[in-house]
Amino acid sequence: MKKRIAVLAGDGIGPEIMDEAIKVLNAVAGRFGHDFEYDFGLIGGAAFEEFGEHFPAVTLDKCRRAQAILFGSVGGPVGEMSSAKWKDCETKSILALRKAFDFSINLRPVKLYEDLWHTSVLRDEVLAKGIDILCVRELSEDVYFGAKSIEGEDGARRATDVMEYNEHTIERVAKVAFAAATSRDSKVTSIDKANVLACSKLWREVVDRVAKDYPNCELEHLLVDNAAMQVLKRPADFDVILCPNMFGDILSDEISVFAGSLGMLPSASLNAEGFGLYEPSGGSAPDIAGQGIANPIGQILSAAMMLLHSFEMKAEHDAIVDAVARTLKEGYCTRDIAKDHTFVATSVMGDAIANFINN
Ligand code: IPM
Ligand code: MG
Repeated sequence: MKKRIAVLAGDGIGPEIMDEAIKVLNAVAGRFGHDFEYDFGLIGGAAFEEFGEHFPAVTLDKCRRAQAILFGSVGGPVGEMSSAKWKDCETKSILALRKAFDFSINLRPVKLYEDLWHTSVLRDEVLAKGIDILCVRELSEDVYFGAKSIEGEDGARRATDVMEYNEHTIERVAKVAFAAATSRDSKVTSIDKANVLACSKLWREVVDRVAKDYPNCELEHLLVDNAAMQVLKRPADFDVILCPNMFGDILSDEISVFAGSLGMLPSASLNAEGFGLYEPSGGSAPDIAGQGIANPIGQILSAAMMLLHSFEMKAEHDAIVDAVARTLKEGYCTRDIAKDHTFVATSVMGDAIANFINN
């Protein structure tokens, strides 16, 4: 099959881990007889350097012409946030991109790998119960996209971020979470702060209503502060975690520790038409960029999610997931998941995974 993919590597570790994902996709194309056409585009600080803007029209065009978007990461060092290159970089690039295609559903699967138990902060008896969680995060509303301002005189300024949710948006993401749970362990844990926030009260009401259409699914509501604690105490009890945008951002970083490292975590962002953007859940990690030590697995598994969700290539998806598991079993570790301080370079990890696709 011929597929056109918009490839936006972005900033920081984005380009290095993207190289490895392309390597693995090429191995898949070779083994399964596909033709993947990559249309490389600039975004974030990298686009700013070339075009003076973070999300140029030429990049948007590439996305429009593609059948899926493979995304790396954007953003610069926290200390340089006020420079023209990095100021509002995330808002103007990845958030603008999510908005442009109305990507409202974000899937972040977290699995515990047997071969990465050594990385875990949890006790063995907790790990022994197994961890397999799908975080379904709403991605198009919430405090991320409400009106924002900083007003007033220096010394007496006032900042505002409006948190907003529409009933329709909540219903749409809730249905995805219940449908996903139906083919898993049939349990949805919905996250909110309904004891304080109006958005959360509406969220809970709509989730309860949607739940009625899925009588075989168990529904648990948890306040976000309590959820942050419960998920560490009893991770095996969680199946699908349904979150508003902001809480999902925070909780997905928290539960990434179960997978060994944030660098292991893929994600899929989908719109109502089924068009998708695939990106690792982690950020651009400028502190380790260019050193060849980043973990490419989150990017590689994001490519695998693209094959499954956008191209309906289940066998190809499984081949990548399998190759990653075999690579870890062989003891390959990047620095973030290393045992005994021995680790391989980003490109060696990519080579090993690509090799297992072919053999
Ligand atoms: C994520 C990231 C983004 C978010 C940032 C880069 C805007 O943290 O995808 O989790 O907050 O959604
Ligand atoms: Mg995040």
